[in-house]
Amino acid sequence: MKLAILSRNSKLYSTRRLVEAARTRGHTVRVLDPLRCYMRIASDGFSMHYKGKPISGYDAVIPRIGASITRYGTAVLRQFELMGSHTPNPSDAILRARDKLRAHQLLAAQGIGMPITVFGDNPDDTVDLLSMLGPPPHVIKLNEGTQGAGVMLTEKPSASRSVVEALRGLYANFVVQEFIGEAQGADLRCFVVGDRVVAAMRRQAPEGDFRSNLHRGGVAESVLASTDEVDVALRAARVLGLSVAGVDLIRSSRGPLVLEVNSTPGLEGIEQACGEDVAGAIIADIAGHLLAAGKFNQ
Ligand SMILES: Nc1ncnc2c1ncn2[C@@H]1O[C@H](COP(=O)(O)OP(=O)(O)O)[C@@H](O)[C@H]1O
Ligand SMILES: [Mg+2]
Repeated sequence: MKLAILSRNSKLYSTRRLVEAARTRGHTVRVLDPLRCYMRIASDGFSMHYKGKPISGYDAVIPRIGASITRYGTAVLRQFELMGSHTPNPSDAILRARDKLRAHQLLAAQGIGMPITVFGDNPDDTVDLLSMLGPPPHVIKLNEGTQGAGVMLTEKPSASRSVVEALRGLYANFVVQEFIGEAQGADLRCFVVGDRVVAAMRRQAPEGDFRSNLHRGGVAESVLASTDEVDVALRAARVLGLSVAGVDLIRSSRGPLVLEVNSTPGLEGIEQACGEDVAGAIIADIAGHLLAAGKFNQ
């Protein structure tokens, strides 16, 4: 098949691994910088140019669109979809997952366990807003934060109130959640490809922190996710419409709770911790999908 990877940098580990896995399996693959793709939209058809030349005929497109270019990147991806390319993660699914509030509402509506979450707009309502959540500790999260930056723990009602007030003063978007203490600084990344969890790793926060992100000094080890955990991870990815997803779970006394669903999960941490060919699984899943749709025969 003829594959495109939408990525700003072909040297990134995940991009390199996907290229390698595609070539190993005999596919043609090209890395396209989404910001260099431009498009013609007309009722008689859709077309795209890349660095001065027309491009077309991609059987599938793998999006690796960073958070900072979500809007333009998903528009480019949508153009590929309109031109007939398959993608494991459609533009609308990426937009659902990137908007944390929307994703939270959609997942909870399907009965998927999550930490109880509140959010609101008006400073006059802060005290009542926090009372809807229950007593601290609380976890306060910036909506646009990643890799653990912008995730704070408050242990007293006055601390929750002042952090909320400070963030409001900065016009930041944030949510407040119950703190799941029994997780003891650990979470579980389930890597979903199609209808399988192909690898799972447990990440443990460093001493003195509750955030298990590897960028914050967390350490990862390969684990076998339980049937319940696999089930929740697959359902969460499906509700958002993602075929490739990094679903972060936290183990609570009321079962696995989804913290977030990443639509562009990194491959480096998980491949290294688990020794699995995750890139190969992604390529094989796309090929299987096209084969079933009768779109490619190799
Ligand atoms: N409600 C919570 N209770 C306990 N720990 C949490 C909670 N929310 C997040 N954490 C910890 O903080 C880390 C970062 O939070 P997360 O929501 O994944 O934000 P980010 O997008 O920055 O990774 C998680 O991996 C987890 O270890
Ligand atoms: Mg996270």
